[in-house]
Amino acid sequence: MVLSAEDKTNVKTFWGKLGAHTAEYGSEALERMFNAFPATKTYFPHFDMSHGSDQIKAHGKKVAEALTRAVGHLDDLPGTLSDLSDLHAHRLRVDPINFKLLSHCLLVTLSNHLPDDFTPPVHASLDKFLSNVSTVLTSKYR
Ligand code: HEM
Repeated sequence: MVLSAEDKTNVKTFWGKLGAHTAEYGSEALERMFNAFPATKTYFPHFDMSHGSDQIKAHGKKVAEALTRAVGHLDDLPGTLSDLSDLHAHRLRVDPINFKLLSHCLLVTLSNHLPDDFTPPVHASLDKFLSNVSTVLTSKYR
């Protein structure tokens, strides 16, 4: 799914508005995924799953930082996310279906916090962006 020039602008502009909240929203989306789709917790048996735990916070921050890195390199997602692609496919062996769940939770979380900015066109562009990130992270899965 190719991101158009408009998609890229939408994603960059929206992401810029997250500012200092980026990590917090990442953690909230992660926690939402664990609660809405409990099977995803099986990948994190070593995590303290209580609300707002340090591990959920720290991991949400890492996910958010990776996404911020991706937003900064929309023309080279495969190169930018290559290390994470290896990790998720080869070492963690995350079933690709789970990426849809996290993407969904990210969209719900972001729309909740920035309802005025989350217009239908922005929604569509963010969905495409997360879908492209997910494709890269699952591309080495066999
Ligand atoms: C938007 C999609 C995703 C992004 C951007 C992402 C990003 C990351 C990042 C940055 C790390 C840390 C890497 C490091 O410490 O070097 C990580 C680790 C991990 N990810 Fe993902 N991830 C995504 C989706 C998922 C999904 C859907 C699952 C499973 C439901 C998952 C499971 C894991 C696990 C189990 C770890 C290792 C956690 C640990 O032991 O600390 N990831 N991911």
